[in-house]
This record gives sequence, structure tokens and C-alpha cells, in this order.
Amino acid sequence: MNYEQIIQLALERGFYFPSCEIYSDAQAGFWEYGPSGVSLKNKFIELWRRELVRRDRMWEIDGSQIMSENVFVASGHLASFADPIATCTKCKSIFRADKMIAEITSIIVPENADLEEFDKIIAEKKIVCTKCKGSLENIKKFNMMFKVGIGAQGEPAYLRPETCQSIFVDFPRLFKTMRGKLPIGIAQIGKSFRNEISPRQSLLRLREFYQAEIEVFCNPGKLDDLPKFAEVENTQIRIMTDDAIKSMTCKEALDSGIVPNKLVAYYLGLLVEFYQKTGIDVARSRFRKLGEKEKAFYATVAFDFEVETNTGWLELVACNYRSDYDLKSHANTSKEKFEVMDDETKVLPHVFEISMGIDRSLYTMIEHRLREDKENDRVVLSLEPYLSPVHVGVLSLVKKDGLAEKTEEVYVMLRKKYDAFLDHSGAIGRRYRRLDEVGAPFAVTIDHQTLEDGTVTIRNRDSMSQERIKISELDSHLAQATAFPG
Ligand code: GLY
Repeated sequence: MNYEQIIQLALERGFYFPSCEIYSDAQAGFWEYGPSGVSLKNKFIELWRRELVRRDRMWEIDGSQIMSENVFVASGHLASFADPIATCTKCKSIFRADKMIAEITSIIVPENADLEEFDKIIAEKKIVCTKCKGSLENIKKFNMMFKVGIGAQGEPAYLRPETCQSIFVDFPRLFKTMRGKLPIGIAQIGKSFRNEISPRQSLLRLREFYQAEIEVFCNPGKLDDLPKFAEVENTQIRIMTDDAIKSMTCKEALDSGIVPNKLVAYYLGLLVEFYQKTGIDVARSRFRKLGEKEKAFYATVAFDFEVETNTGWLELVACNYRSDYDLKSHANTSKEKFEVMDDETKVLPHVFEISMGIDRSLYTMIEHRLREDKENDRVVLSLEPYLSPVHVGVLSLVKKDGLAEKTEEVYVMLRKKYDAFLDHSGAIGRRYRRLDEVGAPFAVTIDHQTLEDGTVTIRNRDSMSQERIKISELDSHLAQATAFPG
């Protein structure tokens, strides 16, 4: 289904909607999750914790969203975290230069390209302001961090543009107090903030967004010393090579040199195994190695994990080999010691990062699992049952004859363990359709027979088949069907 249909569903079924929408000064790039969106997000995060954090025995932290100026002096964000912007000499409208050029000419200029490169194309292609046709000023850089003033004196600080900076800053304390041993992953989920020039497409380019980031600290001399690589060596991943996407095992990717070492290959494999379990179609995914001018300023090697969507290839995860860039910079700026012992050797660890966009991942899950079932005149969100915002709808066939009371009794019993949704109102067919659209894998209906023999019907979302089971069997039926993969 197309992007507009997905937005429609998101708005009507409580997944997400624009922030501050009742006010005319609402700003673009801020969206809110409704009850269905929050429930889906929480389950996605639980899956991430199970499949990455716990599986790999990582540590998870929860850092501040506002961080002091020195953090971003050291990280390089104050100097380098900037987008190229084109300003109209006449109406003063501002555009993101790389996007503007791509939309008008289809020429892709990497956002980190030299500013002269943008000016040259704008002159050659005679690109003017798309609003008033005025000429454009020379391209400038615009820093994307939100600055805030702390306390009455307004001390400068910034909303973090990536969650991982607290992981780097906290590394010496964590390694010591948690009795760390390299390699070790440190993870964090939370909001990050970027003052995007052109936020667009709801969850796809936000100014305030959720990241799930993992920073793996490792000894750069031991990147191929990783016995656990055997767990994923046969996992299939898809990698873009010379404009073709090739499917290969992690071992083949490593042996062919496309992926530089076992540590990186291991985490790429883990990532694909995770996304497989989200229900996203990984047959439509690829790792794309970024060119020199495409990479973030802190990365020495970078692979984007991209998935094909209605809006084109969408980056869901940035996998960056950040070397010792961050720890070295924080050590120099703070004078804190960041070296640790690895066996008998003192090392300044290198970092491999898996930086996941949660909002984009949720959008893609919805897009890949939403289908129109024309034959049955319905729209179905076939999410994996363990990720569905609602596990089970609880419906009374009719409200009278004591059925409403019995339905509420069943609902109260189920909601202790499941995301259950109680619905008495409207035609039963319409109630099933609403549950299909929110992805509920099961609907339990209480009818007159329930009062006689304690049985209910349970309807399966995907097959639409119904069976009659005892109320006392509901828990074991649902527990099995909605369990996270083992
Ligand atoms: N930490 C990497 C990123 O935010 O893209």
C-alpha cells in the first residue's frame, strides 16, 4: 500500500500524528505516537533488547538528552555537524542544497561534499529559488544542533544529536564499575534532536526522533579474534557491490574482503537476524558501503543498512567504524583517561557502532506488513503477533443478555498478561476490520453459548478462521501464539 494510505492508517488507528496539530505555529518534523504506536514501539524495543543487547551481553544505559558544550567541542559536532544550505537572495527562503539539487536535476551530491561543488552545479544547471525564482546565495553550512541555555545565566548546552555521546563520555566509569572486558557493547535507546532544514514524510525525517544505538568497544588488534562469529557465519546478508546487490553469508562477505573483519561481519549478521524477526522483508534490504564523501565525519568505514520502501531505499541503520575518534577526542578535551587493559596490554579501544532509527523502522514494519485483502474487503496489518499493538480484541456479540458483563470479565482476565482491547460497539464485522487494521492477531467473541458452556470463539486475523475454545484455554493459546521468538 502506498505512503498516503499508510499515513491514513496511522492517523485513524492511533499509530502517529503531527505534534501540536491544533495550533497554527506547529512546526514540521515533530510527530507523536498514539496508543497503537507506543505499543508497537515498546515491543520493537523489547525485541531489540532480546536479540541484540541480551544476546550479546551488552550493557544498556540511559543518558541525558541535554549535554554540555564541551561534549560537542570534543565530538566534533560543533565544528562539523552541518548541512549545506542554499538561501534565496530575494525571498530569503532556505533549502537543503543536496536535496534541492537532487530533486531538480537528479544529480546526487553527497552532503559532505565541498561547498564549491554545490555552487558549481547550481550555476551550471541555473538552479533558482523554487518559491520566487530568485537567485541563490553561495552555499553555506548550517549546524543542525539545537542550542539551549541552562539556568538563569543561559549557559550554553545542546540537545544531543546522537544518543551515543553519553556512551563515550561514560565509558571509563562503566568499564571500571561493570568490570568490563573487551569487546563490550554499550547500548542506549532515547531521543535525539536535529534541526533539519527540510523535515518531511512524517516519521522518515524528523527533528526529534528515537535512536537505538549500540557502541561496541574493541581492541583494534583483535578484530578477527571473535569465536562468537561462528553463530552468524552462515547468516545471509545482502550487500551492494558495484551497483548490484549480492546475497551472501557473513563468512563469504568476510572472506571476499567486502566486510573488513569478523567483528563487523558478526554485527551485520546479528542485525539482519534482528530485522528478520521484525517482519520487515529482508529480501528487500541491502548493506551499502558509503563513499568517502558520504560518510559521517567520525567514520572510517561505514555501511548503511537500507530497506526498499514506497519512498525508495530507506536507511534504517548506520553501521560506522568510528575507530578511536571519539575516545581520543574526549580524552584530549576532558583529560580523563580512556585506555583500558585488555589482557596484559593497555589499549585505547576502537568503536564499531550500530545506530538504528526506531521511527523509520516502525514505518517500514507497517509498510511491509500492511496489505489490502480485496476479496474480503479489508485492510490487514499482518504484524508478527509478538509485535502487534493489540494482542487480542475482546468483543461481545451483542451488549444485552449479560454478554457485556461476561465480556468485561474475560477482558479483565486477559489484560493482566496481554495487550487486550475491549470493544462492545458497532457491527461485529466492523469491529473485526478495525482490529485487522491495528494488527491484532486474535479476536475473542463472547456470545450466548459462552453463558451456557464457558466457551468463546477465537478468530485468527490472517486466516479469518474461527474456533471455539474454553475460556480456561485462552491463556495457554495466546501465550504460545504471542510469545517472542526463543
Ligand atoms: N550515531 C550515529 C548517528 O546518529 O547517525
